[in-house]
Amino acid sequence: MRIGILGSGLMGGKLGTIFARAGHQVVFSYARTQEKLKKLARAAKGDARAGTPSEAARDADALLLAVHWSRVDDVLKQAGDLSGKVIVTCSLPMNADDTGLVIAHSSSGAEELAKKARKAKVVSAFNTVPSEVLFGVFGAKGKAKAKKPDLVYCGDDEDAKKVAARLIRDVGFDPVDAGPLRIARYTEPFALLVAQLAYEGDGGPELAYRFEHWK
Ligand SMILES: NC(=O)c1ccc[n+]([C@@H]2O[C@H](COP(=O)([O-])OP(=O)(O)OC[C@H]3O[C@@H](n4cnc5c(N)ncnc54)[C@H](OP(=O)(O)O)[C@@H]3O)[C@@H](O)[C@H]2O)c1
Repeated sequence: MRIGILGSGLMGGKLGTIFARAGHQVVFSYARTQEKLKKLARAAKGDARAGTPSEAARDADALLLAVHWSRVDDVLKQAGDLSGKVIVTCSLPMNADDTGLVIAHSSSGAEELAKKARKAKVVSAFNTVPSEVLFGVFGAKGKAKAKKPDLVYCGDDEDAKKVAARLIRDVGFDPVDAGPLRIARYTEPFALLVAQLAYEGDGGPELAYRFEHWK
């Protein structure tokens, strides 16, 4: 697939690199300097290049949105017309010092994004993992003994969700379809918990949880 990265920081830089190594064509966009984008593209060692958000969006089969909440409007404006595009978002609606969600309970960042980019197909994914684990999960992919970690995603468009599930699998996770986009109201606060554990804890979280069906 052709994948445009909107926001090439911790999440966008790592996921874009992994997507390129998994065989996708990647355009890194939206960092404070062009040099950073070029460096990422070179280091990805795959079919990757640096570009503007509108170049990243133009022919993309999927876009990864990975900017701080305060930058969403700006990057969408620079990306231009996103009609029909699949946007996989890991951007969390967090305040300036990353300590709280500014949207919760009755909506979610993913749903607000879908209102901003009305004709795009938004899927929420990757926000429940800290960027620190991504290369490790990708590196373990295919190793006989490695158990794939699950990764939840949600969205309202089934075709867009198939695209997101493929990308999730390409990184090395097992995609878990959590349902419609409004489920992001519950995954985003969970992502905040993971972030707080990662940054306040010692060396990041090792979370384990298990669902049982009681009849
Ligand atoms: N990091 C995580 O583990 C994690 C996990 C789950 C969800 N998230 C969410 O994912 C989103 C991205 O997080 P992140 O940690 O990847 O953030 P980040 O490292 O700060 O990346 C943001 C990107 O936006 C760029 N940017 C910021 N201001 C800009 C400006 N004025 N003009 C052009 N580019 C600009 C940054 O440029 P530079 O590269 O030049 O700084 C960077 O490439 C956030 O919403 C966060 O809540 C993050």
